Amino acid sequence: MAQMTIDFSRFFVPPNLKEAKKRGKEAVNVIRDFDIPEDMKDIGRGHTYLIRTYGCQMNVHDSETIAGILERMGYAPTEDEREADIILYNTCAVRENAEDKVFGELGRLKGLKRTKPDLILGVCGCMPQEEAVVNRILQRYPHVDLIFGTHNIHRLPVLLREALYAKEMVVEVWSKEGDIVENLPKVRQDGVRAWVNIMYGCDKFCTYCIVPYTRGKERSRLPQDVLAEVRDLARQGYMEVTLLGQNVNAYGKDFVDLDYDFADLLDDIRKIGIPRVRFTTSHPRDFDDKLIEVLAKGGNLVEHIHLPVQSGNSEILKKMARKYTREQYLELVRKIKEAIPGVALTTDIIVGFPGETEEQFQDTLSLVREVEFDGAYTFVYSPRPGTPAAEMEDNVPLEEKKDRLHRLNALVNEIALKKNEALRGQVVEVLVEGRSKTNPNMLSGRTRTNKLVHFPGGEELVGKLLPVKITEAHAHTLYGEALVASGV
Ligand code: 5AD
Ligand code: SF4
Repeated sequence: MAQMTIDFSRFFVPPNLKEAKKRGKEAVNVIRDFDIPEDMKDIGRGHTYLIRTYGCQMNVHDSETIAGILERMGYAPTEDEREADIILYNTCAVRENAEDKVFGELGRLKGLKRTKPDLILGVCGCMPQEEAVVNRILQRYPHVDLIFGTHNIHRLPVLLREALYAKEMVVEVWSKEGDIVENLPKVRQDGVRAWVNIMYGCDKFCTYCIVPYTRGKERSRLPQDVLAEVRDLARQGYMEVTLLGQNVNAYGKDFVDLDYDFADLLDDIRKIGIPRVRFTTSHPRDFDDKLIEVLAKGGNLVEHIHLPVQSGNSEILKKMARKYTREQYLELVRKIKEAIPGVALTTDIIVGFPGETEEQFQDTLSLVREVEFDGAYTFVYSPRPGTPAAEMEDNVPLEEKKDRLHRLNALVNEIALKKNEALRGQVVEVLVEGRSKTNPNMLSGRTRTNKLVHFPGGEELVGKLLPVKITEAHAHTLYGEALVASGV
């Protein structure tokens, strides 16, 4: 068994709202001198890596950065875990079942590690930012070689060296509130769409959510850095960027000498020659009129807004510390729909928040009916240790919560289908992403409103914007025919 060296001074303290809310005093450092140490530049030649990613787009993009760093060291990607020399789990802490899956995987890989002792098995992302998780890995999964947190990705070459040579479990999780590291290498998922971070962290402290603790304080990348990255992607031929942040509407609020917000950023990105610009995730609280005005200009700013509501009941929203009421959310939706014709709205909803009554849940159903979301990610509330909601009394049985989820999903699907049906016979603009995952004779792409469309076509259409006539509608997908010679 590997001997463990643990430097407890680097460890995260358990989530603590009072402490975390004191954040913001320390200045954010922008680090621009990322480099791979000389002795690590070639270390991966002839070796392979595999990253398994859980959770949100932020994690997906972090995995692209991790892949970029590993490939700079000479490692090549593989999908075969028996072949891989490095296996990394980039984890999510937002709900318990996401964590359980990772623990299950770590248990499963014990055997592989035994037959292949040189394998480096690592855990990164949001889970290591929780002290309880690190302790559990140390105690029960001693075959793990490397644990690092969300603030330590740029340290990977150094941590990997320790893991390779010292043969001890290497743990590095900084509890600090986070810096901004520029110029990290990235391996993007494809040449068509790209993620671009505009800010990191979250200061909203919704009472159920672990993210403000795992991702640190809100800190925005400088506009010139974001704009340079988007311009560079446009030059490389990318067709779409998605601007990423836990709460993109808070962009710029942390700038000290600069009066520049998310609306200003979008207004500048609008002028860059990239066909489509998306962003996620928005918080209703910070979604102001100035932003709506900029979005209404259209162009490359597409008609889709993901606007998590979480609940349709003002009392529950208050207990969630969302800082808006049902009425305020509905008023915001009204303004958005008025300013942006044809806008698609999607949302996140939690059912079974501690103490949620049937009546309060009915308010969520009625809000969904009123807004007519194009889609929704729905979740049963999962208590996260250390968050205020985890301390709240909860008298709603799990069975009841699951039943609410089913009823909500049925309604969400019914409305999504109705909205998709309305597109039948219409011609929509589709950005072709690649071959359909389920049928190799079909291509898949998305409308400006982010709806998935499958249609027959050949590889040469990937990366193109095409007019597609919708012929068939389901709740989650559309089928159609491209109005060009399809090549098949
Ligand atoms: N339980 C259930 N769902 C949660 N989310 C965040 N925290 C929790 C939790 N403790 C959901 C919210 C958020 C989405 C990313 O995950 O709906 O918007
Ligand atoms: Fe979590 Fe709320 Fe921040 Fe979203 S806004 S990441 S739900 S604390």
